[in-house]
Amino acid sequence: EKAEIGLIGLGTMGSNLALNIAEKGHRIAVFNRTASKTDAFVENAGALKGRIVPCKSLAELADAIRPPRPVIIMVLAGKPVDEQIAALRDELSANDIIIDAGNANFHDTVRRFTELQGSGLTFIGMGVSGGEEGARHGPSIMVGGTQESWTRVEDVLTAISAKYKGEPCAAWLGPDGAGHFVKTIHNGIEYADMQMIAEIYGILRDGLAMAPKEIAPVFAGWNEGRLNSYLIEITAKVLEADDAETGKPVVDIILDRAGQKGTGKWSVIEAQQLGIPATAIEAAVAARVLSSFKAERLAAEKAYGTLEVERISGAKDALLKDLELALFAGKIAAYAQGFAVMEGASKEFGWNLPMPTIARIWRAGCIIRSQFLDTIAEAFGKSGGKGNLLMAPAFITMMKEAHPSLRRIVARAAEAGLPVPALSSALAYFDAYRQGRGTSNMIQAQRDFFGAHGFERIDAEGAFHGPWGMEQG
Ligand code: 6PG
Repeated sequence: EKAEIGLIGLGTMGSNLALNIAEKGHRIAVFNRTASKTDAFVENAGALKGRIVPCKSLAELADAIRPPRPVIIMVLAGKPVDEQIAALRDELSANDIIIDAGNANFHDTVRRFTELQGSGLTFIGMGVSGGEEGARHGPSIMVGGTQESWTRVEDVLTAISAKYKGEPCAAWLGPDGAGHFVKTIHNGIEYADMQMIAEIYGILRDGLAMAPKEIAPVFAGWNEGRLNSYLIEITAKVLEADDAETGKPVVDIILDRAGQKGTGKWSVIEAQQLGIPATAIEAAVAARVLSSFKAERLAAEKAYGTLEVERISGAKDALLKDLELALFAGKIAAYAQGFAVMEGASKEFGWNLPMPTIARIWRAGCIIRSQFLDTIAEAFGKSGGKGNLLMAPAFITMMKEAHPSLRRIVARAAEAGLPVPALSSALAYFDAYRQGRGTSNMIQAQRDFFGAHGFERIDAEGAFHGPWGMEQG
């Protein structure tokens, strides 16, 4: 009996995806460059062993799969993917499908898709979210490629995906790079979510001098309400955990320096290219970068002086309520930006991205899964996902309730010297977005003054110049 699908690259994500596929009843052929890893994988597959076909070569792998053959590549993003495609394409035949399931830059995906055109083979760029657990038991799956190739893999992918109230969190989102683009923006939003949570944690830790074990129940409580989400849930768990070595709360012994692999940065670069403001995501990416300047920050703290802790006072209950709503308002603005970037890309690249579907397949399995995404899915279900999320009637109501809290929290944090870059960017975005008459009249005047760029008037059509006279640049 031939395998339904193949997989190359038995690292943690690849192994877990393969086990997930086997567990859902599909035969899968696997290959790893180091053969001993393949053997060990099959050996440890327990009851699923019978559905796994270990292969010692790519030719063997191709031979083991039912044509047209879908082969998932789960290797490090970048050059290894190109090398794997080059090695694999000789072993495959017409209509076979190479699927890159890594965190690829969508520009690479578009290039790979184009390079394979005319070869008879097709390419799928597949975003997979949910970490190791998700890969093993149900990730969210974002597919880009031809609709025909999707039809071939739809059964397997929907079977292994997470389910939200029975609905599979896997979907075809559009051609070539659409899937990887959506995964990239998912990660950009993930960065903003994480950063805003960290900022709120900072206010509780440094503004209110609360210990991790006091902060944990606050997040756990919020997880029961409108903020209910995987990231809030794990934040509470992180705050509860103790270090095995020292017995101290584990967050207290972790260095305040966060890494990144690129997807957050790509989100921001693409947003800029498309001309869509994504300031909360930008702030989150920049905050990670600044976090890595540890030595410089320590020197600056010496130069400017250490701030005292517990610098926020007042009724704690009211403050905690404000913090919850502030985080919610920030979240609304960040998601509005992320979806706006996808809408911009959809137009620019002619993808016709299905916004309601994207919201739906993010409701379970992925890192940003939350109750909130169901609210977005519902709003987009009504609007078709066109237009800024901030203009969806349900979101106008929610934002009206929440933005005063965001305002108070950002103001208090600023006064106390507590950095809240993502929350304050979210607030500034909202305030600028809702301001019917902004301040760019001044920008236009300045541009005309020094560069004779001209400006439009509020009371007449056409291009005008100001009375700047000879000083004009
Ligand atoms: C997911 C995650 C996953 C991973 C990224 C982000 O959706 O399952 O986003 O893809 O955590 O690599 O990682 P960085 O924080 O290292 O950029």
